[in-house]
Amino acid sequence: MITKPTIDRIMEATDIVEVIGEFVALKKRGANYVGLSPFVNERTPSFTVSPAKGIFKDFSSGKGGSAVTFLMELEKFTYPEALKWLAKKYGIEVEETVDTTENLEEQNHRESLMIVSGYAAKFFHESLLDTDEGKSIGYSYFKERGFSNDTIKKFELGYSPDQWEAFTGEAIKQGYKEEFLVESGLSVKRDNGTLYDRYRGRVMFPIHSFTGRVIAFGGRTLKTDKNVPKYVNSPESEIYHKSSVLYGLYFAKRSIREEDNCYLVEGYADVISVHQAGIENVVASSGTSLTSEQIRLIGRLTKNITILYDGDAAGIKASLRGLDMILEEGLNVKVVLFPDGHDPDSYVQKFGTNAFKTHIEQNKKDFILYKTDILLKEAGNDPIKKSEVIREIVESIAKIPDSIKASVFIQECSRILKIEERSLNTELNKMRQAKAKKDHQHQQQQSYKPEPSPEDLLFFDEPEEKAAAKESDTQEKEIIRLLLLYGNKMIDWDGIANTYIGPFMIAELSDVEFEQPVTKNFMEIYRQEIENGVLPEEQHFIHHPDKGIVDLVVTLLTTKYVLSENWYEMHKILVSDEQANMKATILGAIFHLKKQKVGKILQKLRNELQTSTSEADQEILLNQYMHMKKVEKTISDYLGSVIIK
Ligand code: UTP
Ligand code: MN
Repeated sequence: MITKPTIDRIMEATDIVEVIGEFVALKKRGANYVGLSPFVNERTPSFTVSPAKGIFKDFSSGKGGSAVTFLMELEKFTYPEALKWLAKKYGIEVEETVDTTENLEEQNHRESLMIVSGYAAKFFHESLLDTDEGKSIGYSYFKERGFSNDTIKKFELGYSPDQWEAFTGEAIKQGYKEEFLVESGLSVKRDNGTLYDRYRGRVMFPIHSFTGRVIAFGGRTLKTDKNVPKYVNSPESEIYHKSSVLYGLYFAKRSIREEDNCYLVEGYADVISVHQAGIENVVASSGTSLTSEQIRLIGRLTKNITILYDGDAAGIKASLRGLDMILEEGLNVKVVLFPDGHDPDSYVQKFGTNAFKTHIEQNKKDFILYKTDILLKEAGNDPIKKSEVIREIVESIAKIPDSIKASVFIQECSRILKIEERSLNTELNKMRQAKAKKDHQHQQQQSYKPEPSPEDLLFFDEPEEKAAAKESDTQEKEIIRLLLLYGNKMIDWDGIANTYIGPFMIAELSDVEFEQPVTKNFMEIYRQEIENGVLPEEQHFIHHPDKGIVDLVVTLLTTKYVLSENWYEMHKILVSDEQANMKATILGAIFHLKKQKVGKILQKLRNELQTSTSEADQEILLNQYMHMKKVEKTISDYLGSVIIK
């Protein structure tokens, strides 16, 4: 367990805008910052950060919380992991008390996979730097390729000894479970059940997650044998989904945001060499064709992608269609080819940073124009092929969501294709209409509601019950909202003095049982804090380890109209209204909730009266019923007389 003083220091040091800013491009808007949600794909920003409260709220996905919650959501960190990440960022030493739950065995599945991958990276890295075999084979290979010591350290490059069980044996000795060694792909199971190393005799490229944890590996052979696969990569696992990972992104993200551009290359070595040359905004899709998830990852940081291809890549044409996907995501794509026989790695190593940059500047071409060129060359003078090209190009342009941008491309392509702009526009409009029609049909299909099935009819009563549950939910939450906003304010209405609103409300509600687990939990925490002599502040809940609590509190503090553009405006009005009628606000909420609970008890008693057969029981029930009726009346009178509604 991380100690309380450490947690406090971390919370004090944490600047939520800075933390979230590492993952999301944020723009200042009033007192808040806004950006595109990192949790869903969206074009208009609905993700809001309030530095004053230290919270974020994503109105698209509904997620919200502190910087800690953000890291837990995005990287699936556990609570202590998120704290440690922040501690590392802010240079805070973490004090921990011994806690048996932190034993390897008790870690959850994903965490175990991450831990074993992290251990493996360390093992391979040390084997590269500290063993004779590693130094003479792996290290000298990297040196030959022009990788500096700093680069080797930064990317945690490694070497896997050319033995059957060098890694597996050591890992098992250290207490790592076979299950996780196999699932992470580090070890392979023989038919007889024993394990051996997957990456024997290979140099190792660890693949890092967005937040810098090792989640997979690529291992390159040093043999020239054509029958041996050049790279062996980790299999898909619970922590490694190839299609949503970009190699180098962790090291590149800051620079991508600063440069407002992302270079996309093909291989591990390309990323490392280009990065080493001082151009740090570079990532690789690692051999696979680009996926829309990967594009979205980049799209969170910048809207500009520059693709650096080997000149001789056989896949250029095959990749054209894939690149349309980038256009659809609303990103700008440029393409740079390298001369025959060179990839970005070999080019920058041979000619240096300046020549590399110059080459990019002089050769970068917008994707659509590049595609036009390639297809045109291919079509030659064949008029049928040429009309095919025109259709394909316009198809690409039709994918660009920004219509002004699209019309610029129409102009340029009209020039290159020697076709009148008007004809291209006609074609473009046809495609757009077809697409709109398709989208419309799709929507209609989705909104079409079939006749209720017999099963649906069985649940006929549900809506009413749901509505009742929802109402009690809202009223319970209203109490919590008030506790958060006014709990530490003094009561200053007639008859009561020297009391804070929080303890007053808790005392008044001591006879009410909250129904929602999370509101019940909140009330319990609040009550306990008061018993400990503390008046809990909203920050106490924002940084609470219980995610349910954080969610609830942030939602209440940021309801849409509160956190909208004119947050403070609205807030002031809302607050002043409530404050002017503080007595009515507080008592109103308490007694509305009580009245509603009493109503429920009455309903229950009525049901029991109807089903009960014993007269004695009936008499007791009836007495209870009459009593509750009186309570209900008292509350109603009270609400009627005291609360001006
Ligand atoms: P390349 O063959 O271009 O390799 O594959 P490279 O990165 O330039 O490697 P070096 O320079 O020869 O060392 C590009 C990428 O495709 C994936 C790897 O991610 C590689 O970096 N790949 C390639 C594989 O996954 N498996 C392979 O067998 C080959
Ligand atoms: Mn290469």
